Amino acid sequence: MMKRQTVLPFACVSIVFLLHLAPVTGQAPATAPTVSPSPTNITAILEKAGQFTIFIRLLKSTLVGDQLSSQLSDKKSNQGFTLFAPTDNAFSSLKSGTLNILSDQQKIQLVQFHVIPSVISLTQFQTVSNPLRTQAGSSDNGQFPLNVTTSGNQVNVTTGIVAARVDNAITSNSKLAIYQVDQVLLPLAMFGSPAPAPPPEIPKKEAAAPSHEPSGSDSSPVDASDAGANSFDSRALASFVVGATLGGVLLF
Ligand SMILES: *[C@@H]1O[C@H](CO)[C@@H](O)[C@H](O)[C@H]1NC(C)=O
Ligand SMILES: *[C@@H]1O[C@H](CO)[C@@H](O)[C@H](O)[C@H]1NC(C)=O
Ligand SMILES: *[C@@H]1O[C@H](CO)[C@@H](O)[C@H](O)[C@H]1NC(C)=O
Repeated sequence: MMKRQTVLPFACVSIVFLLHLAPVTGQAPATAPTVSPSPTNITAILEKAGQFTIFIRLLKSTLVGDQLSSQLSDKKSNQGFTLFAPTDNAFSSLKSGTLNILSDQQKIQLVQFHVIPSVISLTQFQTVSNPLRTQAGSSDNGQFPLNVTTSGNQVNVTTGIVAARVDNAITSNSKLAIYQVDQVLLPLAMFGSPAPAPPPEIPKKEAAAPSHEPSGSDSSPVDASDAGANSFDSRALASFVVGATLGGVLLF
């Protein structure tokens, strides 16, 4: 008891001292860790490029972004990635509710469908063999096939549901290539009309993700068109209230 009482104030003083110390060391440019290359931060790259806010939100809520970043910073692994990043326009041109019907597991697979577990340079697209294998799972027909078609320098990726234009390279190095695409890559396994019931995928190691995902509110605002529907509802409610008030006034 005695001991605790003496230790606690000391701890508080130490913390206060450290808090004061922190900004001071932060200001010293000489100690900046310029020597070791900072780990690749996919979110930061996409934020800097702009117009990827919805895809960033999905990368975060599904935790796929964290997985990619940590795999990229794992020095023991030589594995690199190619990421197809749909623009905000691509998401807002989806049919209303497209994303909201997906389960958390399906949202993870949708994001993984935009990830190729190897680095593909722009010129390599000319020679890759179809279908590409994505992180979402089997590239068999009806599952998660992703095909590349090229014509001159134009590269497209097709899923059997959509054909997206690969517009430009946001970043491209030996471990990571990120390309802007003008459409969300919708996989056959989720959006194919006569899709045979998708067999329950054997959960990969990523399968731990959904249980940590903050459910509900975090992922729902992803669908911009539904947000529009909500604001329409509230407008309708507002005009009803105004109407009711006027009606009340007229009655008197
Ligand atoms: C990556 O960058 C984003 C945005 O700049 C930032 O919020 C996040 O904390 C960064 N993550 C890491 C692991 O540095
Ligand atoms: C790529 O897709 C666009 C439409 O998005 C189409 O006009 C063009 O012909 C396609 N090119 C190839 C090589 O498939
Ligand atoms: C993708 O390419 C393979 C091989 O050419 C073909 O068998 C398959 O039907 C194509 N799938 C789609 C969705 O275009």
